[in-house]
Amino acid sequence: MATIKDVAREAGVSVATVSRVLNNNGYVHEDTRVLVNEAIRELNYKPNEVARSLYKKKSRLIGLLLPDIRNPFFPELARGVEDEMQAKDFRLIIGNADEKPSKELDYIDTFIQNNVIGIISATNHTKRDHYNNLSLPVVFLDRTSNDHPSVFANGMEGGKIAAREMVKRGCKRITLLKGPGELQTAQDRFKGAIEELCVSDVNFNVMATSSFSFAEGEKSAKILFKDFPDTDGVIASNDAAAAAILHEALRIGKAIPEDLQIIGFDDIPLSSLLFPPLSTIRQPAYEMGKEAAKLLIRLINNEHVAEKNIQLPVSFIERQTTRKVDDNG
Ligand code: RIB
Repeated sequence: MATIKDVAREAGVSVATVSRVLNNNGYVHEDTRVLVNEAIRELNYKPNEVARSLYKKKSRLIGLLLPDIRNPFFPELARGVEDEMQAKDFRLIIGNADEKPSKELDYIDTFIQNNVIGIISATNHTKRDHYNNLSLPVVFLDRTSNDHPSVFANGMEGGKIAAREMVKRGCKRITLLKGPGELQTAQDRFKGAIEELCVSDVNFNVMATSSFSFAEGEKSAKILFKDFPDTDGVIASNDAAAAAILHEALRIGKAIPEDLQIIGFDDIPLSSLLFPPLSTIRQPAYEMGKEAAKLLIRLINNEHVAEKNIQLPVSFIERQTTRKVDDNG
């Protein structure tokens, strides 16, 4: 890979002259600038972003921390962040924390060592002190913090909608999956659903799950039909769990949605491809990512920010794991 010295040699100028052309600072004769740019093209030279950021003392690098890159919800978030950052000439360093505080801390150190100028974090570790001590702007995404700028969806409303739609469709014995108790997003949607179910005439039971992963969903599905074989409606904690429950229900011969109705939460791209396609609560993940990027850029540029906690609406996506309302007479 060509270095700045190779470019200087090719153009017949000093390294300092090449640096002035790259950083667009200091006087460079137009003919010399042409020679340097020709040498850069000829050698396909790519400036070392970290070295350049150290020189300019201000990089264009942003750290994005995701909790589980195997869950399709998070790439949707990341894409929204990346599109906005790319459009504004920033670049991402992405870390996967695996929902582990130790790994999260490691990535924060990595971000700092790479001279990032801002961090977007979809974490949920209640201890925020490792963020409070940072001397750069942080935006929390999906998983929020009252004392930090955050972008998130209205999880409580999503839980209410899911419960309301199931009651409306005639479910009488609902199983409500409670997502990982330590995550605010799981708590919010669970609280919303519980509030709605408690004022209905429906029997319901709660099943706790320890993670939002597909593996946990598969485990929960087997337990669910063993412990609650006559359930006629499942409100899942997220689409990964809903997909696993749908798979297990079909495997044991249940007709969907005639015998069992299922609602997920997230609306990941996979959900519309399941058979039957999954009814779910849509979180606007891409838009959430984009809003988080816009908020962080405003903070980096020290612009006035009217609202530092941005909540986006959710919506019910009716597909075919729930009955049509008029089917219930
Ligand atoms: O599916 C992953 C879940 O974790 C989503 O519901 C999202 O809200 C995140 O918190």
